[in-house]
Amino acid sequence: MTEARVKAKVKVGVLISGRGSNMLALIEAAQAGGYPAEISAVISNRPGAAGLQVASDAGVFAMAIDHALFGKDREGHERAMDAVLRDRGVEALALAGFMRVLSPWFVQAWAGRMINIHPSLLPAYPGLNTHARALEAGETEAGCTVHEVTLGVDEGPVLGQARVPVLKGDDADRLAARVLEAEHRLYPAALAEFCARFRQ
Ligand code: GRF
Repeated sequence: MTEARVKAKVKVGVLISGRGSNMLALIEAAQAGGYPAEISAVISNRPGAAGLQVASDAGVFAMAIDHALFGKDREGHERAMDAVLRDRGVEALALAGFMRVLSPWFVQAWAGRMINIHPSLLPAYPGLNTHARALEAGETEAGCTVHEVTLGVDEGPVLGQARVPVLKGDDADRLAARVLEAEHRLYPAALAEFCARFRQ
């Protein structure tokens, strides 16, 4: 007799710092049937992040852990986040506009279980102001990348990329908006693929 086995969803934590539109794309994807992950916690390092309310409104546990309260103790802040994530049973992390460089301790603690989305076609344009830099360089194509988080900022194995054209008359805001739409499609797909690894 064969037994029908339903694979348990992977519990994912999302780290944000701001508006959380990628976070919402992940929450909405995860709330649809058949998705291999559930979003179990959203943490922002900024108490004023608009994404916290967005997550709560979607019925997801959301909390601020203000890095400013920890002064120069970066790891102390991360240990506080880590404790909440583990308490919520989180198995994998998705960074979604989380604007802090993570310490080696945190990166190692979540090694192989943490991904990020970056608004460029890595390895081109790591860091900030990606769209302005791409325009200045005269690129005809832009896009976004989901990658595993390793010790180097915006490095780590690439899980997926989405490309969009740079159009005549684009400024950084217009290009950012086009790339952001692609981010919202790419990130849920890449997270689903990533989570499949946890249930093989
Ligand atoms: C996105 O462009 C993402 O690629 C980058 O930060 C931005 C966050 O936007 N890492 P949002 O908070 O997801 O709307």
